[in-house]
Amino acid sequence: FNGRDIKLWKYESWLPVKKRVSLEEGGTPLYRLSNLENELKVKELYAKNEGANPTGSFKDRGMTVGVSKALELGMDKVICASTGNTSASLAAYAAKAGIKAYVLIPSGKIALGKLAQAIIHGAKVIPIKGNFDDALRIVVEASRELGIYMLNSINPFRLEGQKTIAYEIYDQLGKVPDNIILPVGNAGNISAIWKGFKEMYEAGVIDELPRMIGIQAEGASPLVKAWKEKKKFQPEENPETVASAIRIGNPANWIKAWKAVEESGGLFESVSDEEILRAQRLLASREGLFVEPASAASLAGLIKLLESGEISRNESYILITTGHGLKDPNIVIKNFQIPEPIEPTLEAFKEVIK
Ligand code: F0G
Repeated sequence: FNGRDIKLWKYESWLPVKKRVSLEEGGTPLYRLSNLENELKVKELYAKNEGANPTGSFKDRGMTVGVSKALELGMDKVICASTGNTSASLAAYAAKAGIKAYVLIPSGKIALGKLAQAIIHGAKVIPIKGNFDDALRIVVEASRELGIYMLNSINPFRLEGQKTIAYEIYDQLGKVPDNIILPVGNAGNISAIWKGFKEMYEAGVIDELPRMIGIQAEGASPLVKAWKEKKKFQPEENPETVASAIRIGNPANWIKAWKAVEESGGLFESVSDEEILRAQRLLASREGLFVEPASAASLAGLIKLLESGEISRNESYILITTGHGLKDPNIVIKNFQIPEPIEPTLEAFKEVIK
């Protein structure tokens, strides 16, 4: 019985913020994916299920610290660009803090559940005729000119919150895993998790580091292209993928992410939409874990890299499942056949289960 240990804020002394706006985020489950472990013949496979956060994604870790910092600085307005989850999270934390949130989203391009969240929490939702990268450009300009506190992952306090994923993994696993695999969009989370591991390493808490493996969707994979073709990083003009959360052509944190992967001896890989949707079904049907498409990119990447022999089956892997599947129900409904209704009789039931 230790009532003081409240999830993310148990690491308070490692966080550079004094105020606390919290919805009891963090403390998410680390599931052993034993069925997939057997099927894929890997030594150890886990999912750090970030969908279990208050608004259903890892963004809550960044927002609890980021919005707390906003209050500490005396800001009464916050803003972000978003593919959906950041806006849902910012809206909720701004509501809790009693401050105004503006969220810019690519019009018609974010999952319905995320839009509903931003609306119900009372954020000013501003759809723009453009993609995430356009939205972020405007947000950066607006925050400079209008003095609105910007809470995209360019804000270092967002990463401070998200680095706690690394702390928790070590806490829960009792050791440092060989590899962390996660989806990469704006490239904040991979940078944050790497920061968390490095801090523990530098403080002498741990004496080894994991490899960071970043997965992008094929249609939005500027980091993967630069990495594989050993050429200069080039933003992508028209990113496209079924995984709307990571439909980003110009990741703001690409330099930090590159360093994380390079320093850790990891790699970047891309996966197709088909591979993403297959991995989403696998997690749901084999492990009881329903994640949104972007999150499934981590498993899709693992499968691809195991099959190509680029990574070893004899190591431990942690998939960061970044967002809850219920955020984007349309993807499931669209891609699956809904059964025809039957007559309300036992006979009809017997007929369909034959
Ligand atoms: N997975 C999910 C579910 C996300 O929502 C995001 C990012 C990522 C992965 C990628 O993380 O950007 O740190 O590399 N979503 C942002 C948003 C861009 O606006 O919600 P990243």
